[in-house]
Amino acid sequence: MKVFITNCLLILLLFSVPIHAQKRQRATCIDRTSRCFLRPFTCPQECPSLKPTDPKAKACYINCNSRTCSSQCRGRVPKCNGFGAACYDPRFVGGDGVIFYFRGKSNEHFSLVSDPNLQINARFIGFRPPGRAHDYTWIQALGILFGQHNFTLEATKATTWDNNIDHLKFSYDGNEVLLPERHLSVWNSPEGNLNVERISSKNSVILSLDKVLEIAVNAMPVTKEDDKIHNYQIPNNNCYVHLDVQFRFFSLSPDVEGVLGRTYQPDFKNPAKAGVSMPVVGGEDKYRTASLLSSDCKSCLFSPSNISDGEELRDFS
Ligand SMILES: *[C@@H]1O[C@H](CO)[C@@H](O)[C@H](O)[C@H]1NC(C)=O
Ligand SMILES: *[C@@H]1O[C@H](CO)[C@@H](O)[C@H](O)[C@H]1NC(C)=O
Repeated sequence: MKVFITNCLLILLLFSVPIHAQKRQRATCIDRTSRCFLRPFTCPQECPSLKPTDPKAKACYINCNSRTCSSQCRGRVPKCNGFGAACYDPRFVGGDGVIFYFRGKSNEHFSLVSDPNLQINARFIGFRPPGRAHDYTWIQALGILFGQHNFTLEATKATTWDNNIDHLKFSYDGNEVLLPERHLSVWNSPEGNLNVERISSKNSVILSLDKVLEIAVNAMPVTKEDDKIHNYQIPNNNCYVHLDVQFRFFSLSPDVEGVLGRTYQPDFKNPAKAGVSMPVVGGEDKYRTASLLSSDCKSCLFSPSNISDGEELRDFS
């Protein structure tokens, strides 16, 4: 009898171990330009899950940067100092790691990324205080074109910011997309290759286009504090709700264009002046588009008939 009880305990112990340790998910690097393309990785113990259910928990992600090539932990919200960020009055961090500002112009559209199978445009909002030579601008909306499809992501206007109100609006192929205001609620495109997921019940999402792109997005106001620090002199009737975003790309071509896209060209020489506190780059004329979803800029490469060649990879992951 005594032996039996001991055995039972032993068996219980053996079984309880895997139940308490959360299963570490596995994932693959899907950046086809990377040295570790398609190599499988196991998520770290500290962040075992690719999509944690706890909104504050770090998520596992695969860093395909050829120097790193490993699984790592990170928060899911955009990191404004990370590669591919476009935040504030827009301050970019290029694919080459160089920080630069691009002013654009309020109420106009500019191409951030233009590649044969992907176009991402931004609508700029802002204003010009009297006596100043340029507009202060922020990114209010993103328009994404891929194959025959399009998606828009917009920040809605507000007089004053309220954390309890969602300020995001989406459309797919011209139809409004409704995403319930719940942590981890997800919308999938009918084709299944595009999804948008809330990473907080309001004002924060991640958009993923299979094998092509991931965008972490926060809707943000320009606060009174920002206004004071930068002396914007923003009017009282608008808090300029805008988007802070961080892009990750998985299949850009070496010729990729756009305000941010070109910084991912393998031999790109960034015109941003080193050592300047706010290096501003130009290119307004090359990258201006007629609308949020048009690909008609002077340096644009997108063509709807160039279907994403990410498709052929789907079976491998
Ligand atoms: C696809 O893109 C390439 C490179 O920009 C271009 O030369 C080619 O004409 C495009 N193909 C089609 C079918 O539009
Ligand atoms: C967006 O996609 C839909 C479906 O393909 C198309 O009918 C519509 O014209 C597109 N909108 C723009 C502005 O290109």
